Amino acid sequence: MRSRPAARVTLEQPTRKREAEFLERVQASQRLHHPWLKAPSTREQFRDLVVRARGERHATFFVCTVAASELVGVINVNEIVRGLFQSAYLGYYAFEPFSRSGYMSEGLALVLDQAFGSLGLHRLEANVQPGNLPSIRLVSGLGFRREGHSPRYLKIAGRWRDHERWAILADHWPKKRRGR
Ligand SMILES: CC(C)(COP(=O)(O)OP(=O)(O)OC[C@H]1O[C@@H](n2cnc3c(N)ncnc32)[C@H](O)[C@@H]1OP(=O)(O)O)[C@@H](O)C(=O)NCCC(=O)NCCS
Repeated sequence: MRSRPAARVTLEQPTRKREAEFLERVQASQRLHHPWLKAPSTREQFRDLVVRARGERHATFFVCTVAASELVGVINVNEIVRGLFQSAYLGYYAFEPFSRSGYMSEGLALVLDQAFGSLGLHRLEANVQPGNLPSIRLVSGLGFRREGHSPRYLKIAGRWRDHERWAILADHWPKKRRGR
């Protein structure tokens, strides 16, 4: 069984200690995020994120480098529904100057380990606008499958936008990764 190369990133629970760094990175990443999302950009919004991350229905992970402990991106597991569903919705964004470094692919793999391990989920869904190639490549590269097209699915920047529905099931996430 082949093991993963040494981890370059680790996951961290959001806390106030990253506030200044987070807000700086959001400012530096506006061109990367536009027009796909608007990350929290005020102290109040950041503090809301920290509080929300402690709730039962959400899990937020800061993706940080192992070498220098720099914040390179954020991954949200949103709206966790238990019972017969055991499913949740993914949201994520990278920060400059770290985009296209492979860190988000590594970070998302670690989140999938947790989602299908300790969080006990059965399914994760990511809804992506058809033109968002980096996002589509991120999820498809990790084994998400395109399940369909949802017209006028989410209101982003004031307009209802079509999205592609990508999802991955626990059964399709390699056991060798979950068992690490
Ligand atoms: C989507 C996003 C998180 C990807 O972050 P990243 O740092 O580029 O991630 P990685 O370096 O791990 O790369 C993931 C894949 O995207 C590809 N990619 C990244 N940027 C790309 C670009 N501009 N054009 C084409 N492919 C790109 C990478 O090559 C890689 O694919 P590969 O493994 O097949 O080579 C980042 O682009 C981002 O923050 N976008 C804005 C926010 C957003 O769209 N969030 C998702 C909403 S659904």
